Amino acid sequence: MDLKKIIPANIQILKPYVAGKTITEVQKEFKPSRMSKLASNENRLGCSSLVSKAVLDSLSHLHDYPDPVAKKLRKKVADMNGVEENEILLAAGSESVISILCRTFFNDGEHALTANATFVGFLVQAGVRGISVHKIPITNDYRFDIDAILKAVRPETKMVYIANPNNPTGTYINKNEYQRLVDSLPEDVLLIADEAYFEFAESVKDYPHALDYRKDNVIILRTFSKAYGLAGFRIGYAIADNRLIKEMMKAKLTFEPTTPAQAAAFAALDDQEFINRSVQMVENGRVRLYDFFQKHDVEYVPSISNSVLMVLDNEEEAVDFTQAMLKQGVILRRVNAFGLPNCVRITIGTPQDMEHFEESFLNIAELKKQLKISSEYYE
Ligand SMILES: Cc1ncc(COP(=O)(O)O)c(C=O)c1O
Repeated sequence: MDLKKIIPANIQILKPYVAGKTITEVQKEFKPSRMSKLASNENRLGCSSLVSKAVLDSLSHLHDYPDPVAKKLRKKVADMNGVEENEILLAAGSESVISILCRTFFNDGEHALTANATFVGFLVQAGVRGISVHKIPITNDYRFDIDAILKAVRPETKMVYIANPNNPTGTYINKNEYQRLVDSLPEDVLLIADEAYFEFAESVKDYPHALDYRKDNVIILRTFSKAYGLAGFRIGYAIADNRLIKEMMKAKLTFEPTTPAQAAAFAALDDQEFINRSVQMVENGRVRLYDFFQKHDVEYVPSISNSVLMVLDNEEEAVDFTQAMLKQGVILRRVNAFGLPNCVRITIGTPQDMEHFEESFLNIAELKKQLKISSEYYE
């Protein structure tokens, strides 16, 4: 079998997703006394206690296909966002919505624009469809460069993808920049405003809620994977002009999201107290992490998301640091695949997680100091 003949070139060049180590794998390999999974921007508080009953109830319907348009949930999500039901599309996570975008809108030869350090899922889904993505360098302060993106728009540009706040940087496009972007893009270029981390950012004064700047060509993405703590269920949604949603519905897998996922999201929306608690935990953890980094002279990128990016001198240091932390039971995320090989992303977790991070960081620093002293002694 000649794989080169069987597999199209755009699939051949994609790299398989390399998952971070699971808690079980790390436990088995390094036997740390405690574990903190701070690698995937999940919610370390878990999810609302309302979810389990709703999901258990949904299990009695598992033999039936899910509601393909998620009617009940769609109405609730529409009401919550002050839009019409036909302006909402629910799918198996916002990554699935991104895949739907890539399947729905591109003609041959059309391309997308985004930053060179952003959510890798967009690049992967575009790559699967053979869509070329022009990556515009981020600014020196790790932000989307709106002017450079606008300058790069060509007649073949079909889509501009921004994540706001961005992953992995945690930085954001401010109100002025977002307004400029919305006003300046030609109306037949789709603007994707991925707000996966919206709940953590919404109270920041200068953070633009994409819903307040709606236009026919803007598609907003939200997810239940982050603040709502439902990453394992796979459910997210798009908000857009109903004519675009109608076309996207044609490309959606008919029966996503699953029945338990729809039930979980429906229940989770009733627990604003859980969201408030999650947002507060992240805010406290962020301040704590900044203090710690400042005290220990660590370069970091200020964030309005549930993660903070640590900037190391080079890729080797990022590899060594991540590995050393892993041995102490702290799972972090290197973000080389996101275009930042010298950086490490830390998800903000519970106070216990942050304490574990700090203690492990200090252990490593101490170990390094001792190694340096002993190597100088033997020189
Ligand atoms: C910016 C951004 N968009 C989308 C996603 C995917 O979220 P989901 O779990 O809804 O597919 C992520 C996940 O990390 C993300 O960071």
